[in-house]
Amino acid sequence: MHKRTIVQAAVLGALLCASGLGLAQDAFKIGLILPMTGPFASTGKQIEAAARLYMAQNGSTVAGKKVELIVKDDTGTPDVTKRIAQELVVNDKVSVLAGFGLTPLALATAPIATQSKTPLVVMAAATSSITQASPYIVRTSFTLPQAAVAIADWAPKNGIKKVVTLVTDYGPGLDAEKFFKERLQFNGGQVSESLRVPLRNPDFAPFLQKVRDAKPDAVFAFVPSGAGAALMKQFAERGLDKAGIKLIGTGDVTDDDILNSMGDAAVGVVTSHHYSTAHNSAVNKKFVEAFTKANNNLRPNFMAVGGYDGMRVIYEALKKTKGAGGGDALLAAMKGQIFESPRGPMFIDAQTRDVVHNIYIRKVEKQDGQLYNLEFDTIKDVKDPGKVR
Ligand code: DHB
Repeated sequence: MHKRTIVQAAVLGALLCASGLGLAQDAFKIGLILPMTGPFASTGKQIEAAARLYMAQNGSTVAGKKVELIVKDDTGTPDVTKRIAQELVVNDKVSVLAGFGLTPLALATAPIATQSKTPLVVMAAATSSITQASPYIVRTSFTLPQAAVAIADWAPKNGIKKVVTLVTDYGPGLDAEKFFKERLQFNGGQVSESLRVPLRNPDFAPFLQKVRDAKPDAVFAFVPSGAGAALMKQFAERGLDKAGIKLIGTGDVTDDDILNSMGDAAVGVVTSHHYSTAHNSAVNKKFVEAFTKANNNLRPNFMAVGGYDGMRVIYEALKKTKGAGGGDALLAAMKGQIFESPRGPMFIDAQTRDVVHNIYIRKVEKQDGQLYNLEFDTIKDVKDPGKVR
């Protein structure tokens, strides 16, 4: 070989090494894609705040690597989430994709995770089937079937036999509707009507009028985080409470983030969920205190906890692999993690890559002038019923 060619090759090699391995090796990049604007911005705000809190508490150097969080706004639009994920993988060379504020955003991005062998940590979206969309998906949020089955067990034991369901018309709502209905029927109850409201710009009034006319014992509701206040307002304005119709649902409806703004109409509402700001444990008290302090008194909701625990899963996977082995090794180290979350005990099932945790039955009550979801019953270690069948 010509001498000049050898030198050129050596220089080129060194450059490749510096860019591809040497320098990049010092940083471990996490691409956090969230709706930071638009109707689901509260989900993005909660998760970003929780991720930053986790990093502030646990340091930004792990296994000798600098952890870099790259936060991107997808505005809640699936095409945008997918394009951002592609850019983060190809240009920024992120080791992990995380966030995913809504089901369609996670589903749109699943093929990118599979093709690039990049672990994708779902911190918010909660349709059961999401983890089946790619073998690289790990979930730290929850699933709607987990929550819906629990309240369908509670309701008939508490005088609620005839129910109308009212859900947002997309993945998690359809999961909530199906699993609630099947379980209530199994328990001897009956869903007399199933109503679905659009995801974008929902007007609950005409649907709640239908509920009123149907005169059920209760309406079971699912709406995504942020939409519960409008539902509660319409519920009271239409006089459903005065007509003796109870409101029950998954905890998305009495979201801690906006619960105080719902006022007295929310008092007494019973829901099922995996997290309440009022969860009584030392780990949660510490989490809530640190979160509210760092975020101008913002209350952490279940989205925040999904983000906080997602960062924990990523950090521990990095510690275990010391950053070697790429996406497959990281994924393997995420599977089977077991730890105490602010929500209570939590486990990432190695087979399904989905979260196993307690589901709590809670009632909205006023304490010291503030509204809280107070947990009064616990169903332990609930696996996603969407997968065990
Ligand atoms: C989803 C979004 C939410 O805001 C929520 O509370 C539950 C599920 C979702 O899109 O999967």
